[in-house]
Amino acid sequence: MTPLVQMEKISKAYRGVPAVREVDFDLFPGEIHALLGENGAGKSTLTKMMAGVVDPSSGRILLDGQEVTFASPNAALDAGIAMVFQETSLIPSMTVAQNLYLGTEKALNRLRGTYISAQQFLQSLNFAVDPTAMVDTLGAAKRQMVEIARAVHHRARVIIFDEPTASLTPEEKRHFFALLQRLKSSGVAIVFISHALEEALQISDRITILRDGELVSHGATRDYDRDKIIAAMVGRTLSGALYRKRDASTLRRPGKKALSVQDISQGRAVRNTSFSVFEGQITGVFGLIGSGRTETFKIVAGITKRDFLMGGTIELYDRPVRYYTPAEAVADGIVYVTEDRKIEGFFETMSVAENLFGGLLASPHHHGAVVRMSEMRDLAAEWTKKLNVKAINDNARVVELSGGNQQKVVIGKGLVQRPRLVIFDEPTRGVDVAAIAEIHKIVNDLADSGLAVVMISSYLPEVLNLSDRILVCRQGRIVEELSPLEATEEKIMYAAVH
Ligand SMILES: Nc1ncnc2c1ncn2[C@@H]1O[C@H](COP(=O)(O)OP(=O)(O)OP(=O)(O)O)[C@@H](O)[C@H]1O
Ligand SMILES: [Mg+2]
Repeated sequence: MTPLVQMEKISKAYRGVPAVREVDFDLFPGEIHALLGENGAGKSTLTKMMAGVVDPSSGRILLDGQEVTFASPNAALDAGIAMVFQETSLIPSMTVAQNLYLGTEKALNRLRGTYISAQQFLQSLNFAVDPTAMVDTLGAAKRQMVEIARAVHHRARVIIFDEPTASLTPEEKRHFFALLQRLKSSGVAIVFISHALEEALQISDRITILRDGELVSHGATRDYDRDKIIAAMVGRTLSGALYRKRDASTLRRPGKKALSVQDISQGRAVRNTSFSVFEGQITGVFGLIGSGRTETFKIVAGITKRDFLMGGTIELYDRPVRYYTPAEAVADGIVYVTEDRKIEGFFETMSVAENLFGGLLASPHHHGAVVRMSEMRDLAAEWTKKLNVKAINDNARVVELSGGNQQKVVIGKGLVQRPRLVIFDEPTRGVDVAAIAEIHKIVNDLADSGLAVVMISSYLPEVLNLSDRILVCRQGRIVEELSPLEATEEKIMYAAVH
């Protein structure tokens, strides 16, 4: 059987620095091919070359045995290759339906008909997305669903999924995996990029692993296990399990009450929710997408303006607060580290240093508006080291970083502001196994140093392992508090859905 796609000795260099080096990669109809590797290993770059987004520096791409070059992503799409991007490529100011049909005749049709057919199509995929919603009102997960729907709608023969499950809930993941199986059995070739190694092991037929832009290992999935993958990814074995079982001795006691929220409501997203957050511990917040967990904390951090029609109070150290802008919350020491790096996280055309410095300028610890270059460089050096941010050079713009390294910059930017209360929203989304451990250490250290830490996460092992107490959010309110000692994945899920 000839491969559907074959990449031969393909390379890509950015400003002379290789990102992908002489990689051979092939893809057969009806297979799920997992592409794995650390942050910055070259996964997105390799697949972007296949999808016509990035021009190879050298090497060949064959489609059905014929050499091809794609002038644009649309040319690749016409040839049947679609990519669902890690960083969403949707147009924010258009509706879901308009994005879905972008580039097809349908976009020109009467809107009403478009919405009805989009509704039916989304339903057939089990995606709960309103086709009339503007994309910029959707959260990261829903936006990704629209991207996936778009690729399926284009009847692509090859679909590249770049971290498709990072922001999906367990329920949505089950639907997504079922969809992958349907695509596979209809002969679609699938590239599956993920940092969730268990998922890759579970659903893929073959595995290819990159390290520093080079192919280091590939073969049938049945010949791999988690440890073998990690060893190939990082070039060494990582000591110890990432997630250990908690016992009473590792639990932090609550310090002073930092935040007290009573009966706040906003539209339909947040309904009469009440809870407190204490110094010196990690308050984990679990909830399904749409449960209002992100919205609740965006109100606390002044990102969403409060809707006072339904009342409620927020107190920071017993003082009532009411923020209209994030800057006011930052001035009070509340920092929200976003889950959505593309939209809210940073200015992508600025350098890593400028982004970090932007964080400092917004904080009350910086006086005077004069930006000293040396200060900026030192700060960048300090945080890129602390967070192990990998870029091709010091002046790399954030847009030039790999997805996981961008996430680290977002975290650095928040912490530079030296908060008293820090809210992490999905802090390890899209980061590799080694970096997850680094970020967890940072989160733990902040709580140990006495800060009040909130960690919103949809990843249950992370919630169970890091939290000192667990709040479960459902239908716009915190409905249950659990101790990590008594909590199990099942108990948390039960509280989140019933
Ligand atoms: N547009 C660009 N300009 C310059 N360098 C880039 C650009 N895009 C990617 N790079 C660099 O190429 C390397 C590979 O990046 P790539 O995005 O392919 O990694 P990845 O394996 O997808 O990582 P992640 O898991 O973090 O998404 C990185 O060092 C990255 O900084
Ligand atoms: Mg990537």
